[in-house]
Parts: sequence; structure tokens; C-alpha cells
Amino acid sequence: MPISPRVLVTGGAGFIGSSVVRHLLEDPQVEVLNFDALTYAANLQSLQSCEANPRYRFQRGNICNPEALREVFSSFRPSHVLHLAAESHVDRSLHGPQAFIETNVMGTGILLQEARDYFQNLPTAEQESFRFLHVSTDEVFGSLGAEGFFQPDTPYDPSSPYSASKAASDHLVRAWGRSFGLPVLVSNCSNNYGPCQFPEKLIPLMITNAFEGKKLPVYGKGENIRDWLYVEDHARALWTIARHGQVGKTYLIGGEEEHTNLDVVQTICSILDAIAPHPDISNRCDLIEFVTDRPGHDFRYAIDSSATREELGWKPAESFETGLKKTIRWYLDNPDWLESVRSGAYRQWMEENYAWR
Ligand code: NAD
Ligand code: TYD
Repeated sequence: MPISPRVLVTGGAGFIGSSVVRHLLEDPQVEVLNFDALTYAANLQSLQSCEANPRYRFQRGNICNPEALREVFSSFRPSHVLHLAAESHVDRSLHGPQAFIETNVMGTGILLQEARDYFQNLPTAEQESFRFLHVSTDEVFGSLGAEGFFQPDTPYDPSSPYSASKAASDHLVRAWGRSFGLPVLVSNCSNNYGPCQFPEKLIPLMITNAFEGKKLPVYGKGENIRDWLYVEDHARALWTIARHGQVGKTYLIGGEEEHTNLDVVQTICSILDAIAPHPDISNRCDLIEFVTDRPGHDFRYAIDSSATREELGWKPAESFETGLKKTIRWYLDNPDWLESVRSGAYRQWMEENYAWR
């Protein structure tokens, strides 16, 4: 009889992790344990729809804490680990790289070691179905010029402390696969956008600032290009890879939606002007301000995900146009989520509600 999946999601209170948790719980066979340290980037309000689900549980904890991980592995007995916990913002990594080294490199190493100990003591049947999926970024490959696409065998060439720390973690994961037989898979995906993204990243920052009539800071000339992927398409890809991907393999996930940053910001402005006109600003593009460029700013990211699409039958459901409209609508409809993230009130709420766990 097939074993019902028991999925340990690290970083499940973050932007992509919360989408993954919601997606997993749609399957009535799946049980989920969300293990998250609740850093500034987490928001448990993103998981309110899951709170009452008996197949969902939350455990506050840090992936740098081996004892906490050991307890989770032995009590929850996962069949799958989806590892998303990370420090994820490039600009923060330029100001304070240490946290990125601690969580992304050290934390991943500690998690791998605990997963290995757990895996080695599993009965054979459970070892056969156990999978560890490491969720990474296309930024590990560095910058593209105007032509070409990242492939699974593109050499690593990270530019920022963030991407360097993710590159290190990817290498650790592959090493634990090769040296210790841990059944690992790695996915590298392009820029995500969608509901519940902390408003420090380009798209939610521009939506919230433009809505409120604040300045829209575009780095350099806004010519840098990103390949945009709707977060729910990514969540679906991850669970497909974890269940059906080949052990030891790397899967690239992209939206095939390349846009310059300026194009993204202008599109956000025109959608908002149409659906939520500002009382004093007729054209929100007037709010765009070109500011000093980010140091080491990668020019272009673009992914060739054809191998993933062909092997696993996955493809994105949203175009950039439909996904962006949904995302803008979500931010307009959820001012409470935004307010809680900004004010820090949710952090106090979490302390009061989860301190005992
Ligand atoms: P996020 O910053 O929104 O969320 C990260 C989550 O990890 C938070 O809930 C945080 O509390 C948790 N966390 C951080 N440090 C932790 C620790 N030491 N122990 C336990 N939990 C910890 O990030 P995201 O955008 O959802 O990204 C999730 C993963 O996907 C990351 O590994 C990131 O590198 C990768 N990724 C993100 C993107 C993107 O566009 N956002 C693109 C490619 C890959
Ligand atoms: P970001 O959302 O930080 O993602 P990443 O750096 O991981 O790609 O930034 C996306 C692009 O938008 C990137 O080229 C930097 C640019 N950007 C701005 O121009 N202004 C901003 O305020 C931010 C946050 C980003």
C-alpha cells in the first residue's frame, strides 16, 4: 500500500513556503509540518486558512538548531522534506551577509546532517520513498547577457552574498546525496511573485507604494531583466518534483516571462490607474524615480525549463499579465495582511500565540 506523504516544510511561513503549504493541504492524503523560525519575513496570517486543518501543524524552530530538528524528525517522521527556509533578499545580504551564511549555509548543513541520521535509521520501504528537495534560485548562475538561458549544467557564478550562500547550500545538498546516499533533488527557479510576498521585493514594493502614491525607486535605468514566475505555479512544480523527480537531479523552473524592471513597474502603474485611480495622481508612472544602482546588480536572468516541462509535464498556468492582475487584486483586498507586516504587530501576536510551542 502506498504510504501517505508526510511533508516537513522548512520556511513554510514565508512567501513561497506558505503557498507550498496551502498547495500540499489541498491533497487530503498529505500531512504537513511547517518548521519556521518566524523571522521578519514570516507571517502566519498567510496560513490562516490552514490553521484548523487537522493535517497541518506548525512548529517554531531554527534550522541551525540540531536538537529541534532531531525532535521534529523523530516525532513527525517525514516522507519528504521541502527545504525553503532561508534569508532571501539580495539587498539585505549586501547590508548584513552574516545571517545569510548562518541560515543558508550553516542551517542547510545542519538540516542535511539531521536528515541523513533520520534517513539512515528508516526501514527500507520508507527509505525508498524518502526525498529531500532543496529549493534554490537561478541567481546561483550569475548574470546573463542579452542572449541565452540558464541550463541545469550552467556553471555557478554567484554575484551577491545571497546567491553565493544559496550556491554553497546547493553544493552541500548534492554532496550529501553523493557521499551519504541521501535521496536529494535540487530545484533552481526564477523570480517569484504573487500573494503574501513581503513588500521589500520589487513587485509588492511597487504595488504598495504606487497604490499609496509614494515614490517608486527603480535601480539604475530599470533595464535589468528578470523571468517572472507566479508563486502558485512554483508551489505546484515543487510538489511534482518532490514526488516524481529523479533522485540526484537538478530541475529548473521558470515562467518564460522576461521583462525589464521598468516594464514591470510601468505595468503595475497602469493596472492600478485603471482599477484603483489615485485621487491626486492621474498617471502613477510619474512616481518612478531612478536611483543609484545595486552593487553587483545581475543584468539578466532567464531559465530554460523545457527539460522540467517535458519530463514532469509541469507548466505554468498563469501568464505574467494574469498573475500580475491577481497579485495586485490580492494586495488591494488584503490591507490587514500588509498592515500587520509593516507595523510589526503580527510579530507580537506570534510571540503571544506561539511562544509556548
Ligand atoms: P521568504 O524570505 O519569504 O521566507 C523565508 C522563510 O524562512 C521565512 O518564513 C523565515 O521565517 C524562514 N526562516 C529564515 N531563516 C530561518 C531559519 N534559520 N530557520 C527556520 N526558518 C527560517 O523567502 P521566499 O521568497 O519564500 O523563498 C523561499 C525559498 O525559495 C528560499 O530558499 C529562497 O532562496 C528560494 N527562492 C526564492 C525566490 C523568490 O523569488 N522569492 C526565487 C528562487 C528561489
Ligand atoms: P528583487 O525583487 O529584490 O529580486 P532579485 O534581486 O532577487 O532579483 O529585485 C528584482 C529586480 O528589481 C532587481 O533587478 C532589482 C530591482 N529593484 C529595483 O529596481 N527597485 C527596488 O526597490 C527593488 C527592491 C528591486
